[in-house]
Amino acid sequence: MFSSKSNEWSTPQAFYERLNEVHSFTLDPCADSENTKCKKFYSMEDNGLAQSWQSESVFMNPPYGRQIKDWIQKAHQEGQKPGTRVVCLVPARTDTKYWHDYCMKAESIHFIKGRLKFGDSKNAAPFPSAVVVFDGDRQTNSPHVTAMTNGGSVCLL
Ligand SMILES: C[S@@+](CC[C@H](N)C(=O)[O-])C[C@H]1O[C@@H](n2cnc3c(N)ncnc32)[C@H](O)[C@@H]1O
Repeated sequence: MFSSKSNEWSTPQAFYERLNEVHSFTLDPCADSENTKCKKFYSMEDNGLAQSWQSESVFMNPPYGRQIKDWIQKAHQEGQKPGTRVVCLVPARTDTKYWHDYCMKAESIHFIKGRLKFGDSKNAAPFPSAVVVFDGDRQTNSPHVTAMTNGGSVCLL
């Protein structure tokens, strides 16, 4: 779908910037030196899954293969630590086990209305997306749910 590795499901820059205005991100744990959204990042060589994300404001757009469940589990785990917030841009696969095991325990879920155009693609993604927020300082029993535009603004329901 994307010829360049660095463009593989890369977060649309304007969408990222809208979220960054709210969360002031400090860490991109799944990136490389070409596509990182933050000055501080972990690459495949570092293995972001094996690092601590504590005390960071994390923006996570994980690899979209089978290992996505490991990233969401990690986001949930790190996002329980005090002073740590993990904002995940993920496919809205609400039928999966990992969605129910982890995303349903998030502080908030923002369902994106419309489809994102990842990387420099002219075409919209073939799947819906959501922004899932884990926040170690604001734990809840059930997530606060909102809608978000595909420009990254939260809509009032
Ligand atoms: C969907 S892209 C996101 C890129 C960029 N952070 C963004 O938001 O546009 C996922 C990135 O994770 C990287 N990646 C894959 N496995 C990783 C690992 N174990 N640790 C850190 N990064 C990894 C890939 O190389 C790829 O650059």
